[in-house]
Amino acid sequence: MSNVTLEKRVVISFRDIYPRLTTTYASHGMYYYPARFIPQVVRFFIDKYTKEQEWIIDPFAGSGTVGVEALMTNRNAICIDLNPVIEPLLKAKTYLPDWCPDRYFNLKDAPIYKPKWSRIKDWYPQEFLEILEKMWGVYYENPHPLVLIALFKVSRRFSFADDQVPKIFRSKKKKSEIEEMLKKGNYEKMILEFFEKALKDVYKASMEFKRYYRGGTCIAKGGIDIVNYELDREVNHLLTSPPYGMAHEYIRSFKLELAWLGYDDKQIRNLGKLEIPYRPEETIPKIDIQSDTYEKFYKRIEEKNPKIVKVYEKYFTSVLGVFERLGKRIIDYIGIFVGNASFSGISPPYDQIFIEHLENCGFEHITTYVDVIKSRKLFRKRKNASPNGIETESLVILKAKR
Ligand SMILES: C[S@@+](CC[C@H](N)C(=O)[O-])C[C@H]1O[C@@H](n2cnc3c(N)ncnc32)[C@H](O)[C@@H]1O
Repeated sequence: MSNVTLEKRVVISFRDIYPRLTTTYASHGMYYYPARFIPQVVRFFIDKYTKEQEWIIDPFAGSGTVGVEALMTNRNAICIDLNPVIEPLLKAKTYLPDWCPDRYFNLKDAPIYKPKWSRIKDWYPQEFLEILEKMWGVYYENPHPLVLIALFKVSRRFSFADDQVPKIFRSKKKKSEIEEMLKKGNYEKMILEFFEKALKDVYKASMEFKRYYRGGTCIAKGGIDIVNYELDREVNHLLTSPPYGMAHEYIRSFKLELAWLGYDDKQIRNLGKLEIPYRPEETIPKIDIQSDTYEKFYKRIEEKNPKIVKVYEKYFTSVLGVFERLGKRIIDYIGIFVGNASFSGISPPYDQIFIEHLENCGFEHITTYVDVIKSRKLFRKRKNASPNGIETESLVILKAKR
């Protein structure tokens, strides 16, 4: 790392700056999402680098943390993600009316909603699936953003998918939990009671969001492949946390939710094929990566594992391509929050590679904030001392030279 870059590194604890904010305050914890931003990082960027009413884009917006924080600080946000779930998530997390139905389900003579995804039957005991199909049938007759999130929770809880593991995975533990539930009988009552409790929690989070809401607009766009996306307007700032190198498979994790939203096998498969970095090379526009650090680590990873170097190349071509292209539309600041996840045991300094390339695309490196918190809850109930080999996380700040 050059001396100039080193001098610009500041050690910080985002959580200590905002001791009153928790990672799940307001509507942030309404529904789980892997590798979610800690809201304090977003708040820090907004407070320090943006003004009221300005626009912020997050091209890898996930569960929409940037959108929620924007509306709580009177900024506007554009939140884009490949995962279509971002749209209902943000709709619920930023829902403003007070109204929420308390007695929602009467399953007598309820219409039936059958997901198109062919594997749905593998994920539920028939007894539960029949009840869920009725609940979703009633929902689609009279949709409501908060009810949808509570239904997502119910549809996970009564499935064979382990609640603690982000990708859909059948664990022995969950199988025996389901067997216990099946022994109890009176399934409809059990499921409806769970739903009511889930809806109460969602409603509480929504009310908390409303207390903090200060104004602004949040546009959520799901199902978008940002690697081939052109922004048709200028935006003041970009703030994001891109996927990690050997990344999590987000679409795979959300198959159940996507199925209940109406996605079929082909649609789910096609979305999964666009995820960074696993997508086919020919779907990634070529760019000239201008970073000596990238080259140095390319050689090291190639020597160790020639197969993994392809993933490394696809990852940086995709992510740097997005920053380069969207960067042309950014008026002021770019903030990138990233950790040094490893490629086959070698951890390239992502922040340094981003800085070097963007310095060649009209940006000046201002500061890198290195978070002293060495652990982050990437997944529910799993606090990782070093998730995916990540030891520190940093927020890189760059400014457009205009
Ligand atoms: C680290 S997560 C972002 C989490 C987000 N900061 C939050 O607070 O929830 C990275 C995101 O990149 C998205 N992603 C992966 N490939 C993508 C692509 N080709 N186009 C758009 N988004 C993509 C994933 O769906 C995932 O939500």
